[in-house]
Amino acid sequence: MKKQLFILSLLLGSITLSAQETPGSTPLIQNIYARETQSLNGYWNYLMDQQEIGYYNYRNLPSEDGFFKDVQVDNVTTWKEYDFDSAPVMRVPGDWNTQKPELYNYEGTLWYKKKFPYKKSGKRVFLYFGAANYDAKVWVNGRKAGDHVGGFTPFNFEVTDLLREGENSVIVKVDNKRSLDAVPTVNFDWFNYGGLTRDVMLVEVPSCFIQTYRIQLDKGNTRRIVARAKLSERRAGEKITVEIPELKISRTATTDADGVASFSIEATPTLWNPDVPKLYDVVISSSTDRVADQIAFRTIATRGQEILLNGQPIFLKGVCIHDEAAYGGGRIYSTDEAHILLQWAKEMNCNFVRLAHYPHSEQMIREAERMGIMVWSEVPVYWTINWESEATFANAKNQLGEMIERDQNRGNIIIWSVANETPHSDARDRFLSGLISYTRSKDATRLVSLAMERHDISENEMTVQDNLHALVDVVSFNQYVGWYVGRNDKIDRVSWKIPYGKPIIVSEYGGECVAGYHSPEKKIWSEEYQAELYAKSARMFDERLPGLAGTTPWLLKDYRSPRRVMPNMQDGYNRKGLVSEHGQKKQAFYVMQQWYKTK
Ligand code: GCU
Repeated sequence: MKKQLFILSLLLGSITLSAQETPGSTPLIQNIYARETQSLNGYWNYLMDQQEIGYYNYRNLPSEDGFFKDVQVDNVTTWKEYDFDSAPVMRVPGDWNTQKPELYNYEGTLWYKKKFPYKKSGKRVFLYFGAANYDAKVWVNGRKAGDHVGGFTPFNFEVTDLLREGENSVIVKVDNKRSLDAVPTVNFDWFNYGGLTRDVMLVEVPSCFIQTYRIQLDKGNTRRIVARAKLSERRAGEKITVEIPELKISRTATTDADGVASFSIEATPTLWNPDVPKLYDVVISSSTDRVADQIAFRTIATRGQEILLNGQPIFLKGVCIHDEAAYGGGRIYSTDEAHILLQWAKEMNCNFVRLAHYPHSEQMIREAERMGIMVWSEVPVYWTINWESEATFANAKNQLGEMIERDQNRGNIIIWSVANETPHSDARDRFLSGLISYTRSKDATRLVSLAMERHDISENEMTVQDNLHALVDVVSFNQYVGWYVGRNDKIDRVSWKIPYGKPIIVSEYGGECVAGYHSPEKKIWSEEYQAELYAKSARMFDERLPGLAGTTPWLLKDYRSPRRVMPNMQDGYNRKGLVSEHGQKKQAFYVMQQWYKTK
């Protein structure tokens, strides 16, 4: 009885943690690549600062004269023990681990400095970061611009009054140390790449600009476009126009007291789908601002245990992908790098990718959209998060909000995921039900899920038990029968009974192997063992997992993880990839390619 009451309270949303606003977060400017920008990418000076002497004094208290002051000295009357301009340089964007041998395994603080010219234009200026892993503090010309926590979502600070005509400098303290109350917490199965990992730029906007907008098909209605645009200022009576030339649409609405204009437009656009990834040029304009975008129009819904794209059942032929470049590792920040991974997924006959376990770059999302690949996008609420901490909840909520804010117009994103493999408890249910209701408040159109876990009914009968089944649209779960749960012969005996009557996605399955290691007797770590695991899993899904609407095997490519230390087999890599980190396709890749051809 207690459990039913608890689920009811979750459904009623009565149990949600209150969330303090994360300090320093300023409203995100959307569609940054369509704005007037001055790139700050390139070579930045850097200083490694393991004990954070640049921020704390010898009593471990915040210092007034930290590195961020960047004072100039004459070494006669004044001196200092740091200097950026004579320090070495590294490329931004890019994680520091793959750029400098001495930083390969570095976790800690690193300081960056970039000098740049700026010519005042009378416009407002924001400093935008595509991502900084994990904790970033930013100063412009020695004055604080803001703070941000979270390693995979964009953030921006207004710097209009911090800039001067001519030469300026920006200094950033990035700290990627793991901590118990962080999101993710201290333990996660991927490499903790640190640094300014995505684009950095100045963005110029008018004093009153179009801060955010959403232009999508109405939920479940392929003949109505609903749009909402919000000005940076709370101004009523401003005219905002939405134009879609190819559909001969030009519609103007007037903002309300909050500066919000809403539109409902009858239209019959060509619907985006994996075979026809149609994008429409869209322009949103006000009396002072104009933003262009490319928008996909599609609907996504569920019906019983089916997932419907544009009202038609679709099987999600997916694969999990970590944000790590195809050859040689490191965080991805370019469209070309994203394309390589997505092209491998297409070769495997995928129409869907689970971008694990955190928001990937905007380049990855937009390239997938152009290639006709649907996306599951996720925040790193992973494993043993501190469910009792309000600050941790605020952090997770902020990252979730930044992910949705950035990508709300990407029609290929069909699922928002709030967690991965999280241990059951009342506190965890409260925390995640709060994230789910927040997700729906930010975006009522996309499906919501999380990667749950399997449970044994008996030796060979399995299910999923999770209170949150009542709150999600899709029941997704990770299972490793044949790897962590028995050997491949067990796969032939297992059947599934999942009682929730919703579409099911197997959001992870697979096993490790070393590309090129062959064993006729199918020994563990061999390609033959991994291929057999996938062949048997496909048969199990087809024959004994009713309600299956998609799978995302774990995962596309071998990737770096400090949790994988088996000499000669792993050597710091998780080898569940269907492709090696050198681009070598394993036998299992072709098993999946064939199976997906039958779906
Ligand atoms: C888990 C987890 C993954 C991890 C995988 C593995 O399911 O979600 O992040 O890498 O198992 O053990 O390889």
